[in-house]
Amino acid sequence: MDRQLLFFDKNYFAFYKKLKKEQGKEIISISDGLHNFNKIDELDEYSQIVDISSLAGLEKLQYNAELVIPKYPYDTIFIADKNHKELFEFNLRYLFDSFLDIDVVEDIEIEYNQVDGTIKSNVLKHKKIIDLDSDDINKFSKTFAKQIYGHEKFKDDFSELIRNFGVFNKLGEHKILSLFLMGDSGVGKTEVARAIHKSLGGKKKIAKINFGNYSSDNSLNSLIGSPRGYIGSDEGEIFIRVKESDTGLILIDEFEKSNSMLFNYFLDVLENGKMVSSMAEEIDLNGFIIIFTSNISKEDFPKRISPELRSRFDYKGYFMPLFYSDKKKFVEFRIKNIIEKFNENYEVDLPRNITNDILNRINVSNFKNMRDLNKNIKDTFVKYVMEVLITKG
Ligand SMILES: Nc1ncnc2c1ncn2[C@@H]1O[C@H](COP(=O)(O)OP(=O)(O)OP(=O)(O)O)[C@@H](O)[C@H]1O
Ligand SMILES: [Mg+2]
Repeated sequence: MDRQLLFFDKNYFAFYKKLKKEQGKEIISISDGLHNFNKIDELDEYSQIVDISSLAGLEKLQYNAELVIPKYPYDTIFIADKNHKELFEFNLRYLFDSFLDIDVVEDIEIEYNQVDGTIKSNVLKHKKIIDLDSDDINKFSKTFAKQIYGHEKFKDDFSELIRNFGVFNKLGEHKILSLFLMGDSGVGKTEVARAIHKSLGGKKKIAKINFGNYSSDNSLNSLIGSPRGYIGSDEGEIFIRVKESDTGLILIDEFEKSNSMLFNYFLDVLENGKMVSSMAEEIDLNGFIIIFTSNISKEDFPKRISPELRSRFDYKGYFMPLFYSDKKKFVEFRIKNIIEKFNENYEVDLPRNITNDILNRINVSNFKNMRDLNKNIKDTFVKYVMEVLITKG
């Protein structure tokens, strides 16, 4: 890697500093090192970034810079105020191979509003459904459908929904695709979100918030951060989660458990296509999918969720327990999956008809909740393998 000097815009320096802090990095000034070379030895180039803006005020800039900068470890990241770009490009031409803008290098989009001082950012590049072309959408739908057992009607509806979303999002008429999924426990509501995340190629954690933890009066502060000046004015959980994730998907579990303040916040988010933190930081959610899940019954839905909010969801679906045949398929898939993992870790020859043997031992009709069924598969597998080992002696 060549040695680069990266320029930042003063207007978003505070924002950049915060962003780096979240990534575990600290920005320090070169003045420390300039006054005391020992400080340079203490530097940890993997967690510290050196701001050299203060060099601009030195009389013998080139001389001093050439004295101090080479002492820093080679992998050190150097940044400077854009206002000194010309000065540094000339005087530090022997020290750096290239001079670039931070936002370009880090692939972040930052928009600074001169009037009200707010900052709009698109720090992380989220993989979004709207960025897929028609072929990719086909692939996406197939990969998605393979991961969800049953719910065939939903899968068809969903595949149509994302197609329409792609079109109307381009026309600027549909910013966020929102789905409200209801149904009993363990039928695959959350799994839908996981499958979307994976099918979009998500490698990081899914941006998931459980509203079960958000029922207190203070919940909006925990979600979007407390206003500036508050004691412990931390960043809100949803901002952290969205920044940590790499797909344009947000999962809100147990939606009905929270209160009207949060409902209203989401009404706004769905309306405007963006999240605004209590510190006026904005994240553009254009092209995002938001999945809301809930255990409420069909009958309770109109009672618990206001008409304004209800009408805002693009899709409202009720997940029924899986059919017998789908559960059978699920069991078969899980057994094969477990056997594969088992074979990778143990040198035991499993009987050839193991899949069928286990399938026959599990009565899928006893299970509505796939979580319970999954546990039963594991238990049955272990019991079966123990028996095999015992008979082998
Ligand atoms: N339709 C399905 N297809 C594939 N796997 C499923 C399906 N339904 C459930 N599962 C499996 O069961 C587990 C539980 O499902 P999931 O977390 O989606 O339940 P849920 O509907 O969100 O329930 P809860 O209301 O309790 O949160 C998942 O980890 C998944 O392995
Ligand atoms: Mg769930």
